[in-house]
Amino acid sequence: MHVGIEGSKSVVYRRLAEDLDSLLAAETDAVANLANAAALAACRLDRISWVGFYLADGDGGLVLGPFQGKPACTRIGPGRGVCGAAACSKKTMVVADVRDFPGHIACDPESRSEIVVPISTAGGEIFGVLDVDSSVTARFDEEDAEGLDLFVAVLRRRLMLC
Ligand code: SME
Repeated sequence: MHVGIEGSKSVVYRRLAEDLDSLLAAETDAVANLANAAALAACRLDRISWVGFYLADGDGGLVLGPFQGKPACTRIGPGRGVCGAAACSKKTMVVADVRDFPGHIACDPESRSEIVVPISTAGGEIFGVLDVDSSVTARFDEEDAEGLDLFVAVLRRRLMLC
C-alpha cells in the first residue's frame, strides 16, 4: 500500500483505483468499505479539504455517510446543492467556484471548488454520491472527473452494486 503518492494525475488516480481494489477485497461490509475508501482518497489527493459520501436516504434525499474532514451537513434534500444535483442528473458535477453554483450548500465556508460523482446501483438507482471539496478555486478538472469515475467504478464493484 502506498501512502502520499506523487506523480501525474493519471498515475495518482490509476494507483488510487488499484489500491482501493486491494483495500476493499477482503471485506463485504459497506460502511467499513466506504470508510476506508474515504480515508484512502484523503491520503492520496492533494489540496482537498473534505472527501466522503452522501447516501440515498430512501426518501429522495441524501444522508451523510463515511467521510474525512470537518463535520458536515447531515441531510441534503432532493435536488439540493451540488450533491443533490449530481444525484438527480446521475452525472458527475465539477464546480470550479462554488459561489457561482446557485444553491450550493456551504458546510464549510472555506470551500471554493467541488466535484461530486454519482454512485448508482446495478438497476440504475442512486446509491449515493462521492463528494470531494477543496479550499482552492478550480481544483478539479476533467482528469479528476475521469480519475474519480474510475474510483467509483471500483467501489461499485466491491460493494456489489454492479
Ligand atoms: N457542498 C455540498 C454539500 C456537502 S459538503 O460540501 C460536505 C453541496 O452543495 O451539495
